Amino acid sequence: MSLSREQMLAEMGISPIWVLRDVAPPASAIESSPQMEAEAVTPPQVAEVPSAPVPAQTPPPRSTAAAVDTLDWPALARQVAECRACSLCEQRKQAVLGVGDTNPEWLFIGEGPGAEEDVKGEPFVGQAGKLLDNMLASLDIARGNRVYIANAVKCRPPGNRTPEAAEIAACWPYLERQIALLKPKVIVLLGKAAVHAVLHDDKSLASLRGKRFELAGIPVVVTYHPAYLLRNLPDKAKAWEDLLFARRTLREQMAPELPF
Ligand code: URA
Repeated sequence: MSLSREQMLAEMGISPIWVLRDVAPPASAIESSPQMEAEAVTPPQVAEVPSAPVPAQTPPPRSTAAAVDTLDWPALARQVAECRACSLCEQRKQAVLGVGDTNPEWLFIGEGPGAEEDVKGEPFVGQAGKLLDNMLASLDIARGNRVYIANAVKCRPPGNRTPEAAEIAACWPYLERQIALLKPKVIVLLGKAAVHAVLHDDKSLASLRGKRFELAGIPVVVTYHPAYLLRNLPDKAKAWEDLLFARRTLREQMAPELPF
């Protein structure tokens, strides 16, 4: 069943419909609420862009890194499927490379496959995935259309535990190669594991939200993981702010001369 935009935003925990300040809406489309007014005067803060990511705390195994950085998509998919660079390979049903448009504007990066993803071989197919799909729909994008979805680690951590630093580091060359092949216009990091993988940062998500980071010239923004949002419904409004910030960042990246 397909949801209307209003239903999607309701699913995100945000209604009535919000209208971006940078898009001239028909007067009839705007319904005001105290929450919206607060949003209108406090845009997410844009912070300094670190010029280069801090080096990984735990360097990836040389064998993984050296072999990956020239691979094309089929070779990368093969290597990920056969990867034994860390112990996560021992209990996986299959490695989950990613899904979507391989010429995307958006790249969303999560943590790692859960039980359902391990079976299906596709990221975000469970409950968190449904919320992610609704988050995408609220931005007028969909899995496979202008967006690619990947994870910090490609194999399911047993019991759905958080991946360890060494596992994230072992998988980083694959994610790094995906980013190089995809060349997205914006990267959205969903939760701490993705932040750890891409920004090599352990700070709280609260302190990283609303800031524009950069990886190889690509803007990177941070928001909450959908699974966290399912447990912390009030923070969906903050995630929506982050998505709007990401969309502004994307537009600036695509047409820097236009005022957004
Ligand atoms: N959570 C993630 O971070 N990734 C998935 O693929 C599924 C759930």
